[in-house]
Amino acid sequence: MTQFISVIGYPLRHSVSPDFQQAALDYYKLDIRYEAREVKIADLLSAIYKLRQPQNLGANITVPHKEETLHLIDEVDDFARLVGAVNTIVNRDGKLAGFNTDAHGFLKALRDDARFKPENKRAIVLGAGGAARAVGFALLQESVSSLIIANRTLAKAESLVDSLTKHAANNKISVEIAAMSWQSSKLTEAVKNCQLIVNCTSLGMKGSPYEAQSPLVSDLIPKDALVYDLVYNPPETPLLKIAREAGADTIGGLPMLVYQGAASFKIWTDREAPLDIMFSAARQALINIGG
Ligand code: ATR
Repeated sequence: MTQFISVIGYPLRHSVSPDFQQAALDYYKLDIRYEAREVKIADLLSAIYKLRQPQNLGANITVPHKEETLHLIDEVDDFARLVGAVNTIVNRDGKLAGFNTDAHGFLKALRDDARFKPENKRAIVLGAGGAARAVGFALLQESVSSLIIANRTLAKAESLVDSLTKHAANNKISVEIAAMSWQSSKLTEAVKNCQLIVNCTSLGMKGSPYEAQSPLVSDLIPKDALVYDLVYNPPETPLLKIAREAGADTIGGLPMLVYQGAASFKIWTDREAPLDIMFSAARQALINIGG
C-alpha cells in the first residue's frame, strides 16, 4: 500500500518541502508520496483527524497551524509542548504523536554551517511568533548569556519572555532575558552590542508584501556578529545583504529548513536522511520557483 505524508499549511505555493522530502523518500525507494495540502483554519480539525487513517504516515505542519495543531493530536513531546508548536506528526496505529524539529534544524545550521558557538553569547531574536519561540527556547538551552526578544507587537514579545524566564528559572539556567519593542532606542543599543541576530519575522520573504524590507538598518549591525535569517527565499534577503556589506557573517534559512526536514524524515522512516540529496533538491526547487 502506498503511504502518504503531507505538509499542511496555508498558503503553500512557495513550499519546497515536497521537493526535498520526495527526493529523500525516492533515494530509499520507499513507496511513500509526500504531498502539499493547503488547509485553511476552518478545515484544520478534519485534516488532522484524517491523518489517523492507515495510509497516512504523518505530516509536517507549517504556518499558520503549528500552535493550533498541538491541541488536536494524541501525544506531544516535551520540547514541542515547551515551544507551544508542532511541526511534525507521526501516525502510530491511529494515534498521532507531535514533535517540533525547528529548534534542532536551527541549532544544527548555527553550529555546523555558520560555525557559531552560542554559549555565553549575547543574542537578539527579531519576532515573537512560532519560529521565534522555537529559536528562543533553543538558544536558552544552549546557554546564551543574554536573550532579547524584539517584536513589532510588544505584548507578544513580553509573553514569550515570560515563558522563557519561567523555563530558565525552573531549570536553573542563568541568562538575562528582555522584551523590546521594534523601534525602541534600547533595541538600537542592544543590537550594537550583540553577537547573534536572528530574524524570525517574515520581512524580506519573497512574495510577501514586505519582500524588499529589512528589519534592521546597516549601520547598526556589528561586523563581528552573525546575522541569521530564517527566511530562505530569496537566499540573500535584504537583511543578509546589508549585514554582509557591514562585514558581518551571515546565514540564510535553507540549512535550517533542510535539517528540520531531515529530523522529521528520521521520525517518519527511522532512517538517516540523505542530506546531500535533500539540499540539492531544495536548491533546485528554489531555482524553479525563481528563488
Ligand atoms: P512564524 O511561525 O513564521 O513565526 P508567525 O507566528 O505568524 O509566523 O510570526 C510572524 C512574526 O513576524 C511575528 O513576530 C510578527 O510580528 P507581530 O507579532 O507584531 O505580528 C512578525 N511580522 C510580520 N510582519 C511584520 C512586519 N511587517 N513588520 C514587523 N514584524 C512583522
